Amino acid sequence: MNLLAGKTVLLTGATGGIGAEVAKQLSAEGARLILTGRSVEKLRALQNHLAAETLIYPCDLTDATEQQGLLQFCQQHRGIDVLINNAGISQFDLCPKQNYSELVSINLLVPMQLCQLFLPMLRQHKGQILNVGSAFGSIGHPGFTGYCATKFGLRGFTEALQRELSGSDIQVKYFAPRATETSINSSEVVQLNQQLGNHMDSPDWVAQQLVRQLKSNDLRCFLGWPERIFVRLNGVFPALVDMGLKSKLTLIELFAVGKTR
Ligand SMILES: NC(=O)c1ccc[n+]([C@@H]2O[C@H](COP(=O)([O-])OP(=O)(O)OC[C@H]3O[C@@H](n4cnc5c(N)ncnc54)[C@H](OP(=O)(O)O)[C@@H]3O)[C@@H](O)[C@H]2O)c1
Repeated sequence: MNLLAGKTVLLTGATGGIGAEVAKQLSAEGARLILTGRSVEKLRALQNHLAAETLIYPCDLTDATEQQGLLQFCQQHRGIDVLINNAGISQFDLCPKQNYSELVSINLLVPMQLCQLFLPMLRQHKGQILNVGSAFGSIGHPGFTGYCATKFGLRGFTEALQRELSGSDIQVKYFAPRATETSINSSEVVQLNQQLGNHMDSPDWVAQQLVRQLKSNDLRCFLGWPERIFVRLNGVFPALVDMGLKSKLTLIELFAVGKTR
């Protein structure tokens, strides 16, 4: 039985590397899609490419009025069964140079606010929420203080909401990719990953894992080895991960301040 056929999925960040692949795979599963992103052109191109019924709603999700507009749009179009909070940004820089408010707004506040807004609708539809976190939501990494803080926050929010709703018909899931080949990663981050020997996954494969989790009862999904081991190690023996990352600090700092160019 195809659990997604005929379901309506609201996907944020649909114009991005992972989002576009998720949209394609959900459409192939027969899901009805409501796609958001800021780029109208990219949303239209994706809509034209997809077979199943697809609606688009271009908006900046950090704007409260636009969030309300999105809710009304979904209400006018039969509601949603699944909310995927995938939109996000990253910043690779040392602490003094980071724009924390921008990161917190789109990576943490927006998914929290969309969960609040869509909860009544999801209750009616016995739906599910999937929040896209990161391996950096469990491992604090130099150069990513803001990004890590938002993804740690999103993981905590997701776990708390999942437990709060455990007696209901709504499932709340957390999906944590590791580094993936999309434009969220600057050329410095790509080069740093190469130097550190960090594998980068294809968005197509990551989307396959996300769709698999949506169809399963898995509440948490962490992608990739050795990242999955590091996530556990960091939880139990953080001093070991401190030492590992300290040995890479000079290299990370060089890339973060752009001294390798
Ligand atoms: N790629 C990785 O290495 C990686 C690893 C772990 C986790 N993740 C997570 O996976 C998710 C998707 O990332 P990605 O790699 O696909 O990134 P991406 O290609 O840069 O896509 C980001 C998406 O977020 C949307 N977005 C950003 N700011 C927005 C705003 N203010 N309002 C509405 N939409 C906004 C973008 O829309 P527009 O372009 O139309 O503005 C785009 O669709 C993110 O949550 C990210 O943190 C990624």
